[in-house]
Amino acid sequence: MPIRSFIAMLLLTPLTLAQETAPPLFAADTPIIDYQNPQLPGYGRIGMVVSPEKLAGDIGLDMLKQGGNAIDAAVATGFALAVTLPRAGNLGGGGFMLVHLAESDEQIFIDYRETAPAAATRDMFLNADGTVNKSKAYFSRQAAGVPGTVAGLIHAQSKYGTLPLATVIQPAIDLAEQGFDTPLALHMSLTSRAERLAMDPEAKRVYLQGTANAPAPGALFKQPDLAHTLQRIRDKGRDGFYGGETAALIAADMAANDGLITADDLAGYRTLERSPVRGTFNEFEIVSVAPPSSGGIHILQMLNLLEPYPLKSYGHNSAEYLHRLIESMKLAYADRSRYLGDPDQTVVPTESLISKEYADERRQLITANRANTAASVGPGNPIPAESRDTTHYSVADAQGNVVANTYTLNFSFGSHIVVPGTGILLNNEMDDFAAKAGAANAYGLVQGEANTVAPNRRPLSSMTPTIVFKDGHPWLATGSPGGSLIITTVLQTLLNAMVFDMNIATAVAAPRVHNQWMPDRTLVEPGISVDTQRILEAWGHNLTLTQRTIGRANSLMIEDGWLQGFADLRRPGGHVATE
Ligand code: GLY
Repeated sequence: MPIRSFIAMLLLTPLTLAQETAPPLFAADTPIIDYQNPQLPGYGRIGMVVSPEKLAGDIGLDMLKQGGNAIDAAVATGFALAVTLPRAGNLGGGGFMLVHLAESDEQIFIDYRETAPAAATRDMFLNADGTVNKSKAYFSRQAAGVPGTVAGLIHAQSKYGTLPLATVIQPAIDLAEQGFDTPLALHMSLTSRAERLAMDPEAKRVYLQGTANAPAPGALFKQPDLAHTLQRIRDKGRDGFYGGETAALIAADMAANDGLITADDLAGYRTLERSPVRGTFNEFEIVSVAPPSSGGIHILQMLNLLEPYPLKSYGHNSAEYLHRLIESMKLAYADRSRYLGDPDQTVVPTESLISKEYADERRQLITANRANTAASVGPGNPIPAESRDTTHYSVADAQGNVVANTYTLNFSFGSHIVVPGTGILLNNEMDDFAAKAGAANAYGLVQGEANTVAPNRRPLSSMTPTIVFKDGHPWLATGSPGGSLIITTVLQTLLNAMVFDMNIATAVAAPRVHNQWMPDRTLVEPGISVDTQRILEAWGHNLTLTQRTIGRANSLMIEDGWLQGFADLRRPGGHVATE
């Protein structure tokens, strides 16, 4: 019997019958090879896209089948997610792409982060009494940075892809123009934000069809304005977004509604290639993104802090392990608040922060069996908040090219404002700046002078697309959404694989914790043993159980010539597209 039919039979068999008659499904040495069932890790050889959404993941895979490489697939998926995953896929946001090029054996960090408009000012989000105006910082046109996604995707595709732009963008146009059946995950995400979306007439028209409700699951969902915007990009390249009709529509909407982005801001937007940050953890080499992301630096910093401990003998998610993990998180996030910002406008001491010597010094602050308070590590003011914003996908092709791409509108649906006539949701990335040095942003992150609002500055990010190398070859690609939760999600995914030898599915889905120094508490997912929680509390940890998943690490691993992928299915809609 073919293995696919065999597994399908097992899944359809009542449990008691399966227990009595079937051989064990997970025999220790039997790899599960099932191309159809995303409940299991995907396996493939031709290529793989581990995507937060199925239609866009399949489009990426189709580029590989047409002879494109991982970069073509990543760009096609990126444009398609702008249509199928509007809470985070985007044209109006920005992100970071990390590319491994097999032939030249080099890694490229493409920074397409949003940039503050030229008219932005340091105190633009402060009320007269000095408090932060949250409504302006979260849900106004002034909350939007100059979008980078279109420039970034086109840069990646034209420099490192092999297919014509028209080929990689056309599937997104078709989806927007002809529509698609509303997936349950889209229905759920729109429903959860319907009240806020309805406050913007254009967002209400586009996403709620003029009503108070999301389209029903299965209902045809079309976005004709977005299709036209994508067509202009297909026909004119970056000028189809940063010039001409699209730029004119954005600039006119901004001018009419107290927004700051001008036609000059759009025309002047630049994608940047930067050197990634690099470090080692035991036999592994880690390559990740540099500032304006804080993610790569703090991943390396935490790995350096943890490296000398006998983590494996502590046991996965044991109290001894989690204690060191949480304390390392506190130290890293305390440094984040002080040192990190746009490297083009502030001096970030990257080399010191990621050095083994600095970790040796800071590790002295970690005491066995006693938690540091946040105040004993550094100052701050707490405002807790979790978010499901941002999205990450990982791509690999048969030639050995790998892409880890994280991009975002900041909040789910960004500012919840759509530029009339374009289908473009505006980001609210300006809230990733410190509206006031020392005050917490929407993620509760306390940030300093290095990340205050300034014209043409890129706000500090936590997005952390990362590739791990083993024996000189790419081994694991990962990243996550979740704002401040991103870095600790990536850290634990890496440790699960590198230290605890988990396969990619287990590494991605194992319960996680999160501490960001301020607020002074540790989030804990269900699945961390209650006994362990009691021990940690006895050691002084302040734990908060969260029912929401911490991050979503859509990851892939390359082992023995096989691509193995897993989308964190604890959130709806994830998909491994592979052959
Ligand atoms: N907007 C979330 C981040 O860039 O970290």
